[in-house]
Amino acid sequence: MSPARYGADIAGFLLLVTLLAGCGEEVAPPDLRQPAGWDDALRLPDAEDHDPAPDVVEVHLEAKAVEIEVIPGLTTEVWTYNGMLPGPTIRAKKGDRVVVKVQNHLPEATTVHWHGLRVPATMDGTEHMQKPIEPGEGFEYSFDVHDAGTFWYHPHIRSSPQVGAGLYGAFVVEEAAEEAQLGDDLLLVLSDIGIKDDGSLAPADESGWFGDYFGREGSTVLVNGKILPTIAARAGVPQRWRVVNAARAHYFRFAVPGQPLVQIGGDGGLLERPLPVDEVTLVPGERRELYMLPVEGESVVIPLLDANRFHLPAEEAPRDFMRLELVDEPPGHGAPPLPRRLTEIASIDTTGARGQAVEFMEQGSADGSVLGINGQTDGSLMLFAETNTVEVWTLTNTTNYDHPFHLHGFFFQVLDIDGAAPPVRAWHDTVNLVPGETVRIAIPFDDRAGMWMFHCHILDHADMGMMAMLHLMP
Ligand code: C2O
Ligand code: CU
Repeated sequence: MSPARYGADIAGFLLLVTLLAGCGEEVAPPDLRQPAGWDDALRLPDAEDHDPAPDVVEVHLEAKAVEIEVIPGLTTEVWTYNGMLPGPTIRAKKGDRVVVKVQNHLPEATTVHWHGLRVPATMDGTEHMQKPIEPGEGFEYSFDVHDAGTFWYHPHIRSSPQVGAGLYGAFVVEEAAEEAQLGDDLLLVLSDIGIKDDGSLAPADESGWFGDYFGREGSTVLVNGKILPTIAARAGVPQRWRVVNAARAHYFRFAVPGQPLVQIGGDGGLLERPLPVDEVTLVPGERRELYMLPVEGESVVIPLLDANRFHLPAEEAPRDFMRLELVDEPPGHGAPPLPRRLTEIASIDTTGARGQAVEFMEQGSADGSVLGINGQTDGSLMLFAETNTVEVWTLTNTTNYDHPFHLHGFFFQVLDIDGAAPPVRAWHDTVNLVPGETVRIAIPFDDRAGMWMFHCHILDHADMGMMAMLHLMP
């Protein structure tokens, strides 16, 4: 439906509403409004923009410890940006300049990495390109945002302890031009946290080697920092869920009972076309945009399913995750149908592309196995590539468990998994590696020379040594 046609419908509704109101009758307008307070339990504050220029967003982030109530009745000291869990949402338009002034009030050094954003290497927040921000010091990040989509930010030194203590936030880049109607935005930042009975945070090195090797999952699952929050919805009124997995190690898998879900976006903005799905899995670091046009039905608890990243014979029982409350209001109607084509994603020409092999592996040692990449288990592996070339990387996993591969600074397309092409074309910065499978990705490098990291996004694994560098040379 064209915007003009949609506008005419709205005008029709308004006329009808006026007429009905004239009759003194109490009828909810048959429009496309969400129920009152539909996202009250979940709305995340946007970071304040301190620059009045329309195409510059200046945000101030203070990394600091604060005491908050994550579990009702218990006080927990968490690490936050601006005292919030998650940190404030940074919002910009495609093409904007973004300036982020970071102050470190933590007891240890930190950096901020802009996961998925194509920033210059010097702004990427990794130790190879930036001096860590020491306690009491600050750093100013500034970069242009080139891609619309759902991204996030988090520290990149001692990532597992720092992210695990609460340092993460969403970063949304909106399309500069008018976009198709894809429903009302709802950000869902998924994470977990380990909290002991007395309210204190579980120690960052909990369970020692086991914690490192298996990846630390917190006992409490959070959505936007909340336990089991409620989303209100109305049949016929579409919602656009922007979902981020900001957990250290947790794979989030869920379905919405009784409601159809359509995936419309991934790590790097919209998919080429909508993809109806029965359920969704986000590995650490990944994003998904989902279009949910509720049908009439029951309010439900959305279960969190076991993603079984260890490939155990039996799945764990589902846990309560979120509530979807279908309000008792007349269904909305007139939602424009989803466009058959959401965006243009060019196929990458891989003729003559250089190939590289990346193997996520493990090595036995006297103190238990260690994880690594291509035989290096201390993060020292360095691959080389040239600016403005296309490479095809063959990713394998010879361990017994899943690992999410993440590349900094560049999007890639998945060409095939064990020879099978994915159902729709999309841009990724993270992809799950299942043991024994071969994932081929095509990476178009641009001119941003420098040192870029790639690693497992189970942050305990990255910290353990399942990480490496890509030196992109002019
Ligand atoms: Cu989201 Cu190297 O990280
Ligand atoms: Cu891993």
